[in-house]
Amino acid sequence: MRIRLEEAINVLQRGDVVAIPTETVYGLAADARNESALQKIYAIKERPANNPLIVHIANRHQVINWATQFPELAQKMASAFWPGPLTIVLDAKPEVSKTLTAGQETVALRVPQHLLTLALLEKSGLGLAAPSANKYTQLSPTRPAHVERGLGNEIPVLDGGDCHIGIESTIVQVYQDINGAWQWQLLRAGMLAEATIEAAIEQPSVTLDKRIATKVPGQHLLHYSPTTPLSVFSTREDLLKAFLTHQQNGEACAALLLDEGRVPDCFSITLNNDPVKYAERLYDALHRLDALQVSVILLEMPPNEPAWIAILDRLQRAAFR
Ligand code: TXA
Ligand code: MG
Repeated sequence: MRIRLEEAINVLQRGDVVAIPTETVYGLAADARNESALQKIYAIKERPANNPLIVHIANRHQVINWATQFPELAQKMASAFWPGPLTIVLDAKPEVSKTLTAGQETVALRVPQHLLTLALLEKSGLGLAAPSANKYTQLSPTRPAHVERGLGNEIPVLDGGDCHIGIESTIVQVYQDINGAWQWQLLRAGMLAEATIEAAIEQPSVTLDKRIATKVPGQHLLHYSPTTPLSVFSTREDLLKAFLTHQQNGEACAALLLDEGRVPDCFSITLNNDPVKYAERLYDALHRLDALQVSVILLEMPPNEPAWIAILDRLQRAAFR
């Protein structure tokens, strides 16, 4: 059900959920200070209670409403990349909901780059908890129709068009090490590359601390998955061979390809060889292929190069069974 900005403000202020557009993916938003509103997010998504939510805020001045400190390192990141596809995890103020943080001592914050959602944040005066607007482990939505397909038509959606980045934000944690020095580490790869952040703030990241890594529950392997099994291939030749085998066995296939080379004789979607354009279209392509209800989606893996890291991460998870 599509709704307008004014109605979205009312719905959120009375403690209900609204699917909201961001530049990365659509989020399922609720007032981050309202316990029962937060519970609704977990219930609708069927998300385990140990998986914390990101708080979307209107601007960097609101960071101190949620975090105990806004260290210079994090401020540099915020000035360089907010509004934008970067989520910063900081130490949470004690009053921040444990439902929101899933019992952790940290809180994840982001200023999204979408005019409609920025207007929503400013006019409502709320911080909005918003995970991706899909059922737990399913594909993230990048269009209103994906939200409706995944969560049902009753969910109110603020229609902001297609998400132009197309995959979830880069997540970093900024923390103090045992010597009191401020460090940062990458928790989830996104289209904003680790090297780009390093260059902007002039401080290299620390290699992911495994003890902290286990605290990012959304990073378990089965995630971002279409319902149809996905088979991945590193060459077009292998993909074509597999296609013939499936065809001989009478199994319907569909394919997701890079732009170039011979195509199998089945429904296929070809994506651009440029990672930025590929990311923008990826989830929509997977949603469309999934809707065909074929036996298997054959997927040509993009090259193992730095610019593709976040995409490869999502594809590996999508293919994991
Ligand atoms: O682009 C995005 O980040 C989208 C849009 C809607 O903003 N949101 C999104 O939310 O992808 P979600 O819930 O699907 O993924 C958020 C990830 C989860 O893996 C969660 O475990 C992690 O962020 N996370 C949230 N709070 C955290 C915290 N305090 N510490 C570590 N990880 C956290
Ligand atoms: Mg998600």
